[in-house]
Amino acid sequence: MLNRCIFVGSSALLLCLYLVSLLFSVAVSEISLGSKLSVSDNRLWVSPNGDFALGFFNNSDHVNQYSLGIRFDSDTIPIDKKAVVWVAGAELTISNQSYLQLTQREGLVLFDPSNGGVVWKSDTAGKPVASASLQDDGNLVVLDGNKDLVWQSFDTPSDTLLPGQFLSVHKTLRALSGNSVSSHYSLYLNDSRQLQLRWETDIVYWVGGSPSNGSLRASLSSNGSFQLLDERFEAFWSVFAEDHNDNVTFRFLRLDVDGNLRMYSWDEDSVSWRSVWQAVENQCDVFATCGDHGICSFANNSLPTCKCSFGSTMQSNSKCSAPYQQICDTNVSMVEHMHTSVYGIYPPNDTVSVTSLDLCRNSCQKDPLCTAVTYLEDGSAQCWIKKTRYITGYSDPSLSSISFVKTCQDPLPAKPNYPAAASLPPPSFLPSNNQSSRSHIRSVIDAALVSFCLFCMLQIAVGFWVCKRRVTNVRKQNSLPSHGLFSAGLVRWTYGEIKELTGNFKDQLGPHSYKAVLQNNQLALVRRLELQIEERKFRAMVSLIGSIHHKHLVKVEGFCCDPGHRFLVYEFLKNGSLEDFMHRPASCKKLTWKNRMLICLGVAKAMLYLHTECRDFVSHGNLTCKNVILDENLEAKVTEFGLQRLDGIDTFAEKDVEDFGKMVLYLICGRQEVHEDSCEWSYNKWVSGYGWRVMDKRIVGDVDFEELERALRIAFWCLQVDERMRPSMGEVVNVLEGTLTVDPPPPPFSNSRALLEDRSTDSEVV
Ligand SMILES: *[C@@H]1O[C@H](CO)[C@@H](O)[C@H](O)[C@H]1NC(C)=O
Ligand SMILES: *[C@@H]1O[C@H](CO)[C@@H](O)[C@H](O)[C@H]1NC(C)=O
Repeated sequence: MLNRCIFVGSSALLLCLYLVSLLFSVAVSEISLGSKLSVSDNRLWVSPNGDFALGFFNNSDHVNQYSLGIRFDSDTIPIDKKAVVWVAGAELTISNQSYLQLTQREGLVLFDPSNGGVVWKSDTAGKPVASASLQDDGNLVVLDGNKDLVWQSFDTPSDTLLPGQFLSVHKTLRALSGNSVSSHYSLYLNDSRQLQLRWETDIVYWVGGSPSNGSLRASLSSNGSFQLLDERFEAFWSVFAEDHNDNVTFRFLRLDVDGNLRMYSWDEDSVSWRSVWQAVENQCDVFATCGDHGICSFANNSLPTCKCSFGSTMQSNSKCSAPYQQICDTNVSMVEHMHTSVYGIYPPNDTVSVTSLDLCRNSCQKDPLCTAVTYLEDGSAQCWIKKTRYITGYSDPSLSSISFVKTCQDPLPAKPNYPAAASLPPPSFLPSNNQSSRSHIRSVIDAALVSFCLFCMLQIAVGFWVCKRRVTNVRKQNSLPSHGLFSAGLVRWTYGEIKELTGNFKDQLGPHSYKAVLQNNQLALVRRLELQIEERKFRAMVSLIGSIHHKHLVKVEGFCCDPGHRFLVYEFLKNGSLEDFMHRPASCKKLTWKNRMLICLGVAKAMLYLHTECRDFVSHGNLTCKNVILDENLEAKVTEFGLQRLDGIDTFAEKDVEDFGKMVLYLICGRQEVHEDSCEWSYNKWVSGYGWRVMDKRIVGDVDFEELERALRIAFWCLQVDERMRPSMGEVVNVLEGTLTVDPPPPPFSNSRALLEDRSTDSEVV
């Protein structure tokens, strides 16, 4: 036996040496399986021409927050001008322990051990991956064994388009957010093939192209025009940069933080990026450009300036915080703004009447729901009354309108912040020195060699270890008892023993479940599985769930697999299921806002663990409030996981994500049947700026409104009809913990018309 081990070891060594010599001859640009890039080792993967690099960069204002992205890396561009052109997972931020690895099963996978494991992966749709490369045009591609494309970064743009990259129908460019709430601005190519610049999902403030059926994609050409192309790749709509057809080395198109879409060229004389075209000429025409309560004014050829609608001055971080609660009925005053239009930045909730200026102003002052009015002095005498909490506006000497914004004295409760038009400094990339791209490539080779050799050595060591273990296992097996303790410490009971533990099934807890007392006096729950499950399948399932351990999963103590009897024995948790707990008025009182959010987070972590960290992928398939059990500290534990496999049902992570979204809404709203209607109802409330109205009236004590906003947004993302739009459980956990920002979700139901119909009900309660 030992001789064979030595033989295996030495032939592995020879093979390694051979492969190392091969490595020198393969193309440098190829990223091979197993290649790894981590924050801590400060390296980059560089395109063969040296123009682009993939690596981790540091978000300027947080020490331990990084993103994975692609930036310009040409030697002619100084380090602080190396613009980022793509970021993995939108606004995903990760810790300094993160690393990226190319795997065969899932392509590029981004791990963050301090964030629960996998936080992002390239979507390879299950196709086996063989290699990846960063191409000369800045496209990161993942390929299969035949060098066919499996995934490319060009298909998942962030805020930038590069020449050669297409924006196809239903795809979006999304501006970086300058704030804790993710960006509201996006560029979208819609069904009638028109480009829209949008705020949130329903306010369009710029349109490109004209309606057509044929066109398929938008693209930036390398000579400086932005075009819509038809199926023969011929342009039928174009806009041109001022340096169109000039000889420019680098160009890109970006949706900037301030909501404007711009083309940039690298200007070698001034050593900077020059804006050579922008979609919206007057920056104040970009919707909500000054953010919540900000009013934009714009003098020709200068930057827009923002002032606060309450008359206070803008804070240094260019945000206006509302000093007063706006829904109030006493101590009201109206701040006047000449030549100004004000609009609600959640879908406007305006009523229009024809009246005089004074009556217009007074009617707002008297109406407790009114937050602002705009009066048109253009002869139409229209009075626009706004009843949303979030308003923004713009002023211009040519505007013949006058606006009044209501302020009152009650202090304002915590609420989410909205971005203002502050321009962000470009994120600084790691490493911050001026290593030339050659040396990046050099270090890629070095690192590849080192890791390859380490890998070989490891293989040899593993070879030896496996051989040796076989020898010892053969010896051990002869002395092991063949029953009793099963794999992973599960106990196997006979049917007779189960009857004894449950006192002949006398204490029934629910359908098919009984209370039991184990030999050590510990309480347990015995669940009878109805199906006549094949022993082989049952054992496979038991061995799988026996290997699953997580703080937020109910522990499986053991099982019974006698002919005709199949039982699982779980730990007993005295508070019972979340559903029962919510139904009992006395116990429901204990579910404060904080407890409810901790339950959501606990369940999310359990699902993340099932989806990403188990030996085999496990989806739950039946996540409901019945299957969430509360322990004595009201911590959530999920049960009944892994059982779907027994029914031969293939379930998918997306189903769990949807079920999770329903659960979150149920915990927030307390409405029993969270079917599509009540989802629509709560979405409509939220989108009109009245998210707090959906809350369960039984919640006692304080509510964190910022948390409420996050929880509602993530729930609506989870409930998207289009499964591809649902987040991963990793993203859900990060959002709930507040480490990842989340965009306002589009309507989760298919019929977005419903949005408009519910408006009228908004005037009922306050
Ligand atoms: C990562 O960040 C943590 C906390 O900011 C710090 O304590 C630690 O030293 C950092 N680790 C590395 C490898 O830089
Ligand atoms: C596409 O966008 C244009 C411009 O905003 C709009 O008029 C058109 O109705 C949109 N088409 C669809 C199908 O939504």
